[in-house]
Amino acid sequence: MNNTLLEKEIENLDISIEAPETEPLRQYYFIKKTRILLEQLKDKYKGKLTACIKTFGCQMNARDSEKLTGILEAVGYEILDSKKENEADFVIYNTCTVRENANLKVYGRLGKMSHNKKHNPKLKIALCGCMMQEPDVVEKIRKDYGFVDLVFGTHNIYKFPELLYNSFKAESTVIDIWKDTDKIVEDLPVERKFPFKSGINIMFGCNNFCSYCIVPYVRGRERSRQVNEIIKEIENLANDGVVEIMLLGQNVNSYGNDFEEKIPFSELLKEVEKVDKIKRIRFMTPHPKDLSDDLIEVIKNSKKICHHIHLPLQSGSSRILKAMNRHYTKEDYLLLVEKIRKEIPDASITTDIIVGFPGETEEDFLETMDVVKKVSFDSAFTFIYSKRTGTRAAKMPDQVPEDIVHDRFDRLLALVREESSKQANKIVGQTLPVLAEEVNNQDSTMLTGKLANNLTVHFKGGKRLIGNVVDVKLVECHDFYYIGEVV
Ligand code: 5AD
Ligand code: SF4
Repeated sequence: MNNTLLEKEIENLDISIEAPETEPLRQYYFIKKTRILLEQLKDKYKGKLTACIKTFGCQMNARDSEKLTGILEAVGYEILDSKKENEADFVIYNTCTVRENANLKVYGRLGKMSHNKKHNPKLKIALCGCMMQEPDVVEKIRKDYGFVDLVFGTHNIYKFPELLYNSFKAESTVIDIWKDTDKIVEDLPVERKFPFKSGINIMFGCNNFCSYCIVPYVRGRERSRQVNEIIKEIENLANDGVVEIMLLGQNVNSYGNDFEEKIPFSELLKEVEKVDKIKRIRFMTPHPKDLSDDLIEVIKNSKKICHHIHLPLQSGSSRILKAMNRHYTKEDYLLLVEKIRKEIPDASITTDIIVGFPGETEEDFLETMDVVKKVSFDSAFTFIYSKRTGTRAAKMPDQVPEDIVHDRFDRLLALVREESSKQANKIVGQTLPVLAEEVNNQDSTMLTGKLANNLTVHFKGGKRLIGNVVDVKLVECHDFYYIGEVV
């Protein structure tokens, strides 16, 4: 449903009666009630009310923040740029807990916010996202950050209108965290960051339990959305001007495993391809252990699916991969890459790598370096292992000393840069489709866009091209971006 249709539904609701039990109707009811509350507040303070969302972490969180933005706008807040948290009357931190430093950042910001709260009586603070699914974190907030108004988790984000309303009425922090859920509620207002591209959740949660990873504990078990629901949402997005979509899931090749009649991810992709106005399809993230031949075939034969596969390696050592519970070996991974490259020669392959997993020896690390060299990744996100309480790896012996980890990390980064630069230079001179995304932030006569491989291209062009896929000749390569010319 688009926001205009939603608005009609909300307008027609009777809020003089008790809140309906069914969703999303119940949330429409609270949107309407909060709207009235905010109008009264605006009268009281004689001005507008502003809100700012700070998003940490992955694409899933980015998409959740678009949902929160939609709801904030629907209740009457004016949305500020995410850098303006110090000016806002309502600040939401949509948190990530994959690595510890993301948690530390949030506590740092909260420290500052306690000061802002003393100066702005209108200021409300909410916390949500993965970090809030950890009981220790919520306890700490309850104890040390009592000025926070609202805390909710990843499973009940759709309930934001109701929780927001409750937090206006409550004297103390409203906390609502669910351990898990089998519920998927959609059809609430959403405000996209870019009008022409959108992420779309195809599944939630993860069942893989990689031994270092906290995601299965904070995002719960895998739940897939029905194909017809996904397609309906994509059609609506397409009618609303979206040309590029990114299908989101922690492990997209497990899509449909939770259905009685299984539907493979490759089948879903074929259905998505049929949506007329969609020009580009991306997906994030597949797991190497179950990337099927069918999927490779579908990508190969598709005119819309970007030839970009993000294939998290994590480690090149089969011994470490086993300890990580990844269910593939170094050789399996290399074979898979070979197969992809044979079938889709122009595929861009990117990855995630963790350095310093417990017990990682120099030999293990050199195996990782070997894979980076052999695959020559187009780019790689490199992470220092972060111990997450509650995961199996946190209890493993032989945590690697910090200085050794940093030394390995630097060596890995240097190699990754060398290889990605090699890859980027290979396509200079080619003319390729680019989605024009925005006016260049340094030169207003230029536009900035993305290639199918997700690399950035800057090129001369007018604003009217934004949101269109245009053919651009790649003239210069600067390792991580190109300068191009429209042909
Ligand atoms: N420490 C470091 N990196 C991690 N990741 C997940 N958990 C951890 C951890 N405990 C990385 C993985 C994953 C990416 C999203 O984050 O590489 O693919
Ligand atoms: Fe974490 Fe592994 Fe699931 Fe990815 S597949 S979210 S790394 S447990």
